[in-house]
Amino acid sequence: MKGKICIVTGSNSGIGKETALALVELNATVVMVVRNLERGHNALDYILQEVEDPHIELMQCDVASRSSIEKFASEFESKFDSLHVLVNNAGAVFNKRQMTEDGFERTLAVDYLGPILLTRELLPLLKSSAPSRVVNLCSGLYKSGQVILDDLQSEKKYSSQKVYRNAKLLLLMHTYSLAKKLEGSGVAVNAVLPGFVATNLGKNSGSRMQGLMFGMMKPFQLTPKEGAETSVYVASSKEVDGLSGKCFSKKEVVTTTDISNDGHLQQQLWIKTMEMLGINDY
Ligand SMILES: NC(=O)c1ccc[n+]([C@@H]2O[C@H](COP(=O)([O-])OP(=O)(O)OC[C@H]3O[C@@H](n4cnc5c(N)ncnc54)[C@H](OP(=O)(O)O)[C@@H]3O)[C@@H](O)[C@H]2O)c1
Repeated sequence: MKGKICIVTGSNSGIGKETALALVELNATVVMVVRNLERGHNALDYILQEVEDPHIELMQCDVASRSSIEKFASEFESKFDSLHVLVNNAGAVFNKRQMTEDGFERTLAVDYLGPILLTRELLPLLKSSAPSRVVNLCSGLYKSGQVILDDLQSEKKYSSQKVYRNAKLLLLMHTYSLAKKLEGSGVAVNAVLPGFVATNLGKNSGSRMQGLMFGMMKPFQLTPKEGAETSVYVASSKEVDGLSGKCFSKKEVVTTTDISNDGHLQQQLWIKTMEMLGINDY
């Protein structure tokens, strides 16, 4: 990965932190993208202790905020003239329905709309740096997710787990759609199911019960390092060269549900999403 420039969002914690570390160990230049610089510095210190003379940088971006994404993308472009790997890793789940400054339900904003907006902003650079890769962190929980086209914002009904599952299904479907659109561009777009991993996910959801539950399950979970293995593989492995529009689990391509592969639904979702974001296309 020497000479390759990689972005990992949400890299101050869990899977993202270990993904950043592993890519640095492979000699890539890594930009750790975090929403909180103090937490980011702690994670950077951890990586600096593990690797001698790493090519690594810390930058700030809140993926739930369009203006923050735009500001980050423009700062990134003023520092770097290429981008080979974008790992859309940041993710969150919220116990209570919250809205972002842009008027979107927050889980949808972090887990679905944020990766789309960030990828869109950085697409010209990904194209000019091709071959390049976008890696979207989905979740096996997508299997029980739904595409509720007339209530993507969960205005009618909100359940944190359902909204999270739905957002991950939407991201998986968007991954497939974008891969089709980018055929021939040299930009590969793939999804990753990392497994059940002991991280901070769910602990900050606002639900004490959920936090306790996650704590109790820790012995059955993968470590963050193990959880990062498939992301790192999809971001860096030669074996993945030329593969796009795939979903990976345990470093292997997996077949996903019929709903996720429904081309008509993918198209409807694409149109609805562009409408929501007020953008023509990308
Ligand atoms: N853990 C699992 O079992 C599991 C399973 C399937 C999929 N995943 C997915 O894996 C990815 C990584 O999650 P994790 O398990 O490593 O959880 P984590 O330890 O909670 O890490 C999530 C990261 O995302 C960041 N983040 C949250 N909201 C953000 C925002 N608005 N802007 C920028 N960054 C934001 C967090 O930053 P803060 O520290 O500032 O909150 C944190 O760095 C997520 O997409 C998650 O959905 C996890």
